[in-house]
Amino acid sequence: MKKVIITGGNSGIGYQAAKQLAEKGWSVTLFCRREEAAEQACEEIRQQTGNRHVDYILVDLSDMKSVRKAVEQYIQKEDVLDVLINNAADFDLSVKKPVLTKDGLERQFATNVVAPFLLSILLKGLLEKSESGRIINISSQGLVLYPFMRLDFENLSGQKRYSPAKTYYQNKLALLMLSLYMRKWWKGIKIQAIRVTNVKVDMRRYDHLSAFMKNLYKIKSKFSISPEEMAKVYTALSTEDGYDGFLYDEKCREVKANRTAYEEEGQTKLYSLLEQLTFSRDNL
Ligand SMILES: NC(=O)c1ccc[n+]([C@@H]2O[C@H](COP(=O)([O-])OP(=O)(O)OC[C@H]3O[C@@H](n4cnc5c(N)ncnc54)[C@H](OP(=O)(O)O)[C@@H]3O)[C@@H](O)[C@H]2O)c1
Repeated sequence: MKKVIITGGNSGIGYQAAKQLAEKGWSVTLFCRREEAAEQACEEIRQQTGNRHVDYILVDLSDMKSVRKAVEQYIQKEDVLDVLINNAADFDLSVKKPVLTKDGLERQFATNVVAPFLLSILLKGLLEKSESGRIINISSQGLVLYPFMRLDFENLSGQKRYSPAKTYYQNKLALLMLSLYMRKWWKGIKIQAIRVTNVKVDMRRYDHLSAFMKNLYKIKSKFSISPEEMAKVYTALSTEDGYDGFLYDEKCREVKANRTAYEEEGQTKLYSLLEQLTFSRDNL
């Protein structure tokens, strides 16, 4: 039985990918932060697919101690992992100022970049034991609107200026850079990314936004595909042969990442910084 971890699998595309992989007989572990939502998602998937091997581990991805604890729990019950899908993301347009985590990191950066890095490092041993170990990192099509964007190493915590949308795209660029670095240097595990297009969101998740922002989301949803449709790409990369490229779009076509993501100097700098943040500080 193949095994997958999907972060944020209680909602949206992650949930649909979890369901599709469970339908294919995979053992699915959701890494979620809310017990009730995780329990409900697992129960629904188990009922709809008849696959009992669907479970969750609680984790707050913005908290590095919580990430380490979740991985320890996983390693206690499993000795191999086939696919890690870093799907969860923190993208809340109502946040006006950087929120710092207990680790002193800006929350979006912690959730969207540091957590995927730490999960990848901590689960590397288990992924290496699989014949087809693979990490799939989730990026955004919105990055094509910023073709010249560079990672601003001086503003990773929003200390100079902050906007949740800009920070999100900086995070997604960083995740691509990190993926390319790992793809080059990590042997025995395939590292890939998916460029998610506009996908319908569950409007109940946006109740706290202003009427204006809610309207924007409603308009956006007219030009969006369903989470099920997008999840098919997660499933194809996880289960089918022949996808050996780096970045795939919603039609499973290989596409190029932003030009700046391929610059090796920035990739190396980012990787070293993440190593320092996660392994040389006592509190993380
Ligand atoms: N939807 C789009 O149009 C779109 C476009 C481009 C890229 N993407 C990318 O596609 C991926 C999935 O998006 P989606 O729209 O399906 O997302 P979604 O429905 O908003 O779900 C996000 C998931 O991430 C989880 N999460 C957020 N912060 C977390 C934390 N600190 N710890 C644990 N879990 C956390 C959420 O948990 P809770 O339920 O507890 O909040 C939720 O399960 C994301 O990487 C997103 O950036 C989406």
